[in-house]
This record gives sequence, structure tokens and C-alpha cells, in this order.
Amino acid sequence: MKTVRFGIIGGGLMGREFASAAARWSHLLEFPARPEIVAVCDTNPAIHAWYRDNFAAVRQTTTDYKELLANPEVDAVYVAVPHHLHQEIYGAVLAAGKHLMGEKPFGIDLKANDAITAAVRQHPQQLVRCSSESVFFPAMQKLCGMIEKNAFGRILEVNTGFLHSSDLDPNKPINWKRMIEFNGEYGVLGDLGMHALHVPLRAGWQPRNVRAILSDIVKQRPDGKGGMAPCRTWDNGTLFCEAVDPVLNEPFPLTVKLQRIAPGQKNTWYTEVLGTQASARWSSTNPRLLEVMTYTPGTEQAWQQIQTGYETAFKTITGGIFEFGFTDAIQQMWAAFLYELATGKPAAKFAGCVTPDEAAFSHRLFTAALASQRNCSVEQVKT
Ligand SMILES: NC(=O)c1ccc[n+]([C@@H]2O[C@H](COP(=O)([O-])OP(=O)(O)OC[C@H]3O[C@@H](n4cnc5c(N)ncnc54)[C@H](O)[C@@H]3O)[C@@H](O)[C@H]2O)c1
Repeated sequence: MKTVRFGIIGGGLMGREFASAAARWSHLLEFPARPEIVAVCDTNPAIHAWYRDNFAAVRQTTTDYKELLANPEVDAVYVAVPHHLHQEIYGAVLAAGKHLMGEKPFGIDLKANDAITAAVRQHPQQLVRCSSESVFFPAMQKLCGMIEKNAFGRILEVNTGFLHSSDLDPNKPINWKRMIEFNGEYGVLGDLGMHALHVPLRAGWQPRNVRAILSDIVKQRPDGKGGMAPCRTWDNGTLFCEAVDPVLNEPFPLTVKLQRIAPGQKNTWYTEVLGTQASARWSSTNPRLLEVMTYTPGTEQAWQQIQTGYETAFKTITGGIFEFGFTDAIQQMWAAFLYELATGKPAAKFAGCVTPDEAAFSHRLFTAALASQRNCSVEQVKT
């Protein structure tokens, strides 16, 4: 098994999720590569101790990402930092000759993303992918299998989304994810959008136009120091898009709902595809459950409820009847990255991480969505 030596830049919430997934790599079976975390950079030195205490192979901890990139022991880098730093650090990772797993939104805005895309094109030998994990839930893998087999017939409608609710509490203190200078003008679109677009874009269902309705609901939040700070990012967004199914070349409505203030929703990913021959829907509120309806003219229209188990894109030690969760999806996503790095291609169409081109498309859509909100208009999305 090939060992890929990783550095992590940004050791917060997501940096630790990767490290934890790497620590239980033995979970995967018959796998061609394994990550070994050898270096960690975070500007907050208090973060370093957890990595040093738990990962014997971490030989470098630093507050300066340039030191990590100068380390010849590092083959690949995971960057999980606030959005205003994506352009600079992703570019530096590529210039240093390392493979890159970057976090969404892959640049704070379209200009930053264009610069990242240009850097990616200059380094075709390095693997560059963007993080997005919900596609790896077994029910989503089954739904994607239906897309691959063109099981839906003519697509009537697709609805996807990602809903949170912790921001319903106006007393929740502000953090960088609610501050426009660090999170970007996209607000919730940049935070949650790539997750909801991963499957539609991989399916080839590119929106060609969009009418967006965005809401700024909580306009200031406690600053954690006894005062209040302005909260100028969009909290909720709904994108009404016209997409085209490349199989039949027919248009259909694609609605993408992205909300930080969705009462009752803790961390809900969902996808619904309605078609003339079959329909399917999944929501992470009941992650095992895949609902499917197949239709033959003259027969009843009846939804089937299928309980999925631990039936994953990449084989593991876990029995097929057991439950699958968020940390498993993260590990499967990392398996997808390592598989592609080791073999030169994704294991399957829907078992691959988001590509830089898909991330770039999401930026064109979000930029059009901002214009749509501003002008109360339907905006074309550049393909
Ligand atoms: N894939 C997902 O499900 C998912 C979930 C949450 C966040 N994210 C994305 O991950 C990225 C990071 O989010 P997070 O939730 O981990 O944030 P976080 O605030 O928990 O962690 C970010 C870390 O970056 C560090 N940092 C800031 N500036 C730095 C610099 N110049 N050099 C090195 N380290 C620096 C901070 O000290 C912090 O520890 C964002 O792009 C976010 O959109 C993805």
C-alpha cells in the first residue's frame, strides 16, 4: 500500500475530521493508498497539541504555512482555512509542487476562484480536488446509481439543499463564517452550496440560468466581547434554476435551497429527483432511508422505502447492515481522493471528489445568483 504524506494547513474543525479519518484508515479494505499526517500548520498554536498528542508521525507543527510547504516530506496538503485565504494558500500549495485537497467554496469569490483555476491549469501533474462528502452516504450512492443507469426517464424536477438551524438563535456569537471579509459576499451560498451542487453537476445537470432569492435575517450578533457586531452575510438562499438533462437534452427546474436559518434542521442534506419512469429522494434527517418510486404506465404509483446499510463506494470492515454517519462520509471522501491519487482515476463517476471545474461552475452560479438578487432578475449562468 502506497503511503501519501500529508500536511494540514488549518487544523480546526475540518482539519481534525481528516486527521481522525486517517487515524482509522485500517477501516478500509483492499485499498491502494494510505494518508500519513506528518505536518500541521495553524496560526493558533494551541491547536497543535491535539495533533502532536495523537499522531506519532507529525514531525512538524508550525504557525507559518510556508514552512510546511518547504518541507520535502510533505507530498499532499489539505487546506481548511477561512475563505479569504483560499486563493493565496491553494496557489502556494500548487507552486510548491504538492497535491491539494482544498475546502469549498474554493476561493472567496469568482475572482479568487479564477486565480485558483489558472494555477490548477499550470500544474496538471498534481491532483487537485474540493471537499464535499454527502454523496458518499449509501442512499445517495444508490440514487446516483439510478442517475448513471438513466433510470429516471425524462427528468421532471430536481430539488437539492443543505439546511442548518443553529443561527436561528440571535444570541449565538458571531464567528468568521458570518463575517463578510472572511466568509465572502456569497454568505450561505459559499458555505453550503457546493454540497448541494455536487451531484447535479456530476450528473451534467448544469443550470443555464438562475433566479435567486437571498435573505439577510440576523443583521447583528454578539461579538463575544460584550458588544454587537454587524452580520452582513446572506443567511438563507433559494436558487430557482433551469437545468438541462444531457441525456434527452430537455430542460427541467432545479431548485437548490441553502439555509443557515431553517427551523428544526440541524444539518440536513437532501436530494430529490422526479422523473417520468422513476423518482427517488433522500434526506440526512433519516440517513438510512432511500425512497424510490418506479412507474410503468397502467400500474399504481407507490413509493418504496429502502433501508440502506453500510453499503459504501469503498469497501470497509463494517458489516453491511450497520449505520453509516457523517464521519464515515468524510472517510469515504478521503478514500476517493487517495484512490484517485494512487490510480490516476476515480473509482466511479459518483465516487470521486468535486473537481476544480465543478467548483468553478459553482462560482459562476453563485455570482449570477448575487446579480439576480440585486436586480430582481433571471440571470444567465456562463457555461
Ligand atoms: N466539508 C465540510 O463539510 C465542511 C464543513 C465545515 C467547514 N468547511 C470548510 O472548511 C474550511 C475551514 O472551516 P472550519 O470549519 O474547519 O474552520 P475552523 O475555524 O474550525 O478552522 C480554521 C482553522 O484555520 C486556522 N487558520 C486561520 N488562518 C490561518 C493561516 N493563515 N494559516 C494556517 N491556519 C490558519 C484557524 O486558526 C483555524 O484553526 C472552510 O473553507 C469551510 O468552508 C467544510
